[in-house]
Amino acid sequence: MSYVEQMFSLPNTSAVVTGGAGVLPGVMARALVNAGATVTLWGRGTSHPVADAVEALKKETGISDRIFGVTVDTSDEDAVSAAFEETCIHAPVPNLLVNGVGGNKGKGDFTDIDVELFRQIVDMNLIGGLVVPTKIFASKWQQEKMAGSIINLASMSSYLPLSGVWAYNAAKSAVMNLTVATARAFAEHRIRVNGIAPGFFIGHQNRALLIKNDETGELTDRGQQVIDRTPFGRFGNFTDMEGATVFLASEQASGFITGVTIPVDGGYLTHNI
Ligand SMILES: NC(=O)c1ccc[n+]([C@@H]2O[C@H](COP(=O)([O-])OP(=O)(O)OC[C@H]3O[C@@H](n4cnc5c(N)ncnc54)[C@H](O)[C@@H]3O)[C@@H](O)[C@H]2O)c1
Repeated sequence: MSYVEQMFSLPNTSAVVTGGAGVLPGVMARALVNAGATVTLWGRGTSHPVADAVEALKKETGISDRIFGVTVDTSDEDAVSAAFEETCIHAPVPNLLVNGVGGNKGKGDFTDIDVELFRQIVDMNLIGGLVVPTKIFASKWQQEKMAGSIINLASMSSYLPLSGVWAYNAAKSAVMNLTVATARAFAEHRIRVNGIAPGFFIGHQNRALLIKNDETGELTDRGQQVIDRTPFGRFGNFTDMEGATVFLASEQASGFITGVTIPVDGGYLTHNI
């Protein structure tokens, strides 16, 4: 094995990627598979069925014996516990959790907040997107005295709020806060917790906010503002997520790193005048 393979290949990693039928979690799953991990995609099976995502990933990678799927609502504790057991039937006991569930719905003035929708967005990004899976995985790992690793999905709005997306901002800043807090709490159990903060990638959740016309690629005003603020002058390409994913997943490469969130943002956070 070459030095690079030793550093970055993941033959002993069994990963669960929540929201695995989604755009960015799907890309992260592909990176993990290509680096040698066994990957189980978890998803709700409503708008993006997990079985379809599993088939697509098998086709894309040409690997079929290390990719599995489980349908689960990650905000439901009992269901997540059962999904963990179901995962263990076909895959080695998971030792990596990628908390990929999340997203935003709409945008508006604070005074027009729909409280029920606000709750749903916090629930998706924070409860299903982090709290419940983290609780279940960390409990299982601690019971079994197993080492483990967690990668959370933060956002540019974890650092400074984006306009009009109040619940998303609140939830994503909490994701970064909990990344640090759980890293501290779980370190003694040999559980690392890190995050990735993607800049702007065109996913299901934000397409309508950023792109006015899919055919011409014409941007909304907000889409143009994002590009103007991003020193690299473009949205993220999905492959941009792969390196940070494999790096944080690899015990050899990042085994002494915990509690950090890596921005993958084309310099968005460095913007100044
Ligand atoms: N796309 C971006 O530019 C961007 C930027 C920053 C952060 N992120 C974050 O990355 C993550 C993925 O984003 P994406 O754009 O790929 O979104 P996406 O909508 O493509 O993927 C999210 C997936 O999670 C699933 N899901 C939602 N709630 C669930 C639940 N309770 N149980 C199981 N599955 C559930 C959805 O069905 C979907 O398949 C999110 O946390 C998002 O906030 C995305």
